[in-house]
Amino acid sequence: MKRINLIIILIATSLYAQKFEGLALTPPMGWNSWNKFGCEINEEIIKKMADAMVESGMKDAGYQYIIIDDCWQGERDSLGFIQPDPQRFPSGIKALADYIHSKGLKFGIYSCAGWKTCGGRPGSRGYEFQDAKKYAEWGVDYLKYDWCYTEGLNAEGAYLTMRNALYAAGRPIVFSICEWGNNKPWEWGKNIGHLWRTTGDITNCFDCIVDHGTWKSWGVMQILDMQKGLRAYAGPDHWNDPDMLEVGNGMSVNEDRAHFSMWCMLAAPLIAGNDLSNMSKETIEILTNKEVIDINQDSLGIQGFKYFEKDSIEIWFKPLKKDNWAVCFLNRSKKTHEIKFSWKEHEVIDSIFNKEANFKKTVFNIRDLWKKKNIGTTKDDFVAVIPSHDVILLRLSPIKQH
Ligand code: GLA
Repeated sequence: MKRINLIIILIATSLYAQKFEGLALTPPMGWNSWNKFGCEINEEIIKKMADAMVESGMKDAGYQYIIIDDCWQGERDSLGFIQPDPQRFPSGIKALADYIHSKGLKFGIYSCAGWKTCGGRPGSRGYEFQDAKKYAEWGVDYLKYDWCYTEGLNAEGAYLTMRNALYAAGRPIVFSICEWGNNKPWEWGKNIGHLWRTTGDITNCFDCIVDHGTWKSWGVMQILDMQKGLRAYAGPDHWNDPDMLEVGNGMSVNEDRAHFSMWCMLAAPLIAGNDLSNMSKETIEILTNKEVIDINQDSLGIQGFKYFEKDSIEIWFKPLKKDNWAVCFLNRSKKTHEIKFSWKEHEVIDSIFNKEANFKKTVFNIRDLWKKKNIGTTKDDFVAVIPSHDVILLRLSPIKQH
């Protein structure tokens, strides 16, 4: 009899399990420890980042999540429940989550679908429901779920199991699928998670590949190129994730600006990965430019697309609400380029999302979002100089014709 009850409960849990809907209607914004600190994390660093997110103005600009990546874990206890590393997190995870919540922020954590995390800590394989229960008890709001040590596992099934476990635990938690695009998560991720990584790891370099032997990490331009063909899969509550930001981690200011602008054009999650307690004025200006962030957070949730490319210059378009458009001119070359764009000769069509900017028929006002200035209309040709590895980012709004 008991066994039958258990089977009924199990069937019911998986039949009624679903993803928590509506938690990421615009791309999630926050900070994650990995890109800057790697495994060298502890509760003091994480608290300091939460303080800095508030003090730097990032919270006001829309950043919300403070996410601890790999290496927070200690051993499982005798019942199999995961515990934090007692040296690094002596006050426990609940206390840290409470601290982050007391600042008006949300708290994220990391685990892995395999039996170990990429950093060699205990993974969630076989412990999914226990781990999800702990996260809910601790007050976790966001889970990044990685893909190391997953031999023999089916990716969709593994992520579905954790989704169901989170749902059963009862606390709404954003579910970030970190499977590196190996098994095309864009094809099955929509009902499982709120975002999915589309590539391997990013590195703090604009245009390069770093070979680590068994794996590679990718520069900003390499990751940008890997997004080709994926925009149809993304939208509110289910985003393509081209990995976290490297702004403030050593690239030039121009490169950081270009990286941030392109991640906004891609409607990518904006998860900063730098030391928030030690930022230059330029880094803060990039990360908190409200008008640029508005391009990313636009409620239509449509990912931008490349409209034109020639001689290392690319022009990207992103449809926005109220028939507005974001336009980004990207200079990938090592040299400054002058560009001239005759709007009136162009009719930009987004056939996937059924949007059109017909500059032959409609005139738009133009605002330069980095200069924070209105710069005329699309009646005139746009002529500008773009420094190497930099962008010009514009918002176009249609002038109502009477
Ligand atoms: C993988 C992920 C990274 C990071 C590390 C942690 O490489 O893709 O984003 O979480 O694991 O070990």
